[in-house]
Amino acid sequence: MNELHGKTIVLGVSGGIAAFKAPAVASLLVQSGARVLVIMTAAARQFVQPLTFSGITHNSVYTDAFVPSSPTFSGHVSLAADADCVVVAPATAATIARLALGISDDLIGLVALSTRAPILIAPAMEERMYHHPATQDHLRTLASRNVRSVGPAVGRLASGDHGEGRMVEPTEVIQAVEAILARSGALRGVKVVITAGPTQEPLDPVRFLGNRSSGRMGYALADAAVAAGARVTLVTGPTALHPPAGADVIAVKTASEMLAAVDSATRDADLLIMAAAVADYRPEESQSRKIKKENAGGSINLRLVRNPDILASVDRPDLIKIGFAAETDDLMENAARKLQTKHLAMIIANDADATIGSTHSAATILMADYTVRSLPRMPKTQLAAEIVKAAAQLVANRDHA
Ligand code: CTP
Repeated sequence: MNELHGKTIVLGVSGGIAAFKAPAVASLLVQSGARVLVIMTAAARQFVQPLTFSGITHNSVYTDAFVPSSPTFSGHVSLAADADCVVVAPATAATIARLALGISDDLIGLVALSTRAPILIAPAMEERMYHHPATQDHLRTLASRNVRSVGPAVGRLASGDHGEGRMVEPTEVIQAVEAILARSGALRGVKVVITAGPTQEPLDPVRFLGNRSSGRMGYALADAAVAAGARVTLVTGPTALHPPAGADVIAVKTASEMLAAVDSATRDADLLIMAAAVADYRPEESQSRKIKKENAGGSINLRLVRNPDILASVDRPDLIKIGFAAETDDLMENAARKLQTKHLAMIIANDADATIGSTHSAATILMADYTVRSLPRMPKTQLAAEIVKAAAQLVANRDHA
């Protein structure tokens, strides 16, 4: 399904080198059937000509002068009202700051304050500017207001340095817009909490016990759930993956932190999908200082204590729980036992060796009524879409019960 067809996208272009990618964003939007209205800041016009965008979009380009070439222009209010989605790409540090603070001294700021449409930003700046606490604070402020962001990516920056701050590729911007517009999907209005990645249980300030989970399954589920229209909270252990566009992300390290985050995020949730590889044990003591060989001697005895079982302990009357079982032996027996003891509606069983850390997975889906569906090895993104489809069916069944 093409989510963009017939939609009005207001594309705000702010001024940085990455502005050279904005015409490609506009072009892809137009090719997908969207009506594209471009706003350029004064700085953006130092990098790209308005003519480029009017040529691509066949529409007037709106500039900070508030006077576009079209006589029908009725100001930022109509732009804000017409938009199905406002996309700011690239979003420079200055534009991000303006949006966070609600400063309306340019047309992008005015539209952002006036619109009720979802807003997506694609940050682009030098790495130090991106990591600066000011920028990070602004990004958090925007995220808390449900402004979605995509990127930035790691790569070559305008300075010639390599680092984080590069605007994502135009195709990724389009995917993020599609995900936002797809909120009419099977999980529309449903709140889903998804966990991903490993947990890390500290031994001392520099060492931890962890596992090989990459987080790919959980992140793919978050993407699929956003695409199906859900409100998604992703509770993630440490991973090397980019946060999915359109989801609220809570980063945790330990199983206890994950439990606290899941417990609070599920208060008003419909679905919990536990894809995280939670450590079952943690060191009884975590040293506040680095363990030194001289003090520890030739061997160390580690005493481990049990972590809480998150999936089993978070239980609410209307919460539909979905778990994973990665096993090396007796796959179906173990999966069935976990389904029952943790009160799950569905469990996805797979071979631990073949799935953990991999981009692909085969799976057997076991439902609470013990119906079984086997899926062949496929990319985790595809498996995620299957799981989300089955999850949507569970929500529909609950609502019709
Ligand atoms: N899980 C959890 N909290 C834990 C351990 C596991 O919420 N402390 C969740 C996992 O995210 C998964 C499901 O429970 O969805 C099954 O996890 P798994 O590690 O396969 O099983 P365990 O219940 O830990 O049992 P065992 O390790 O003995 O196989």
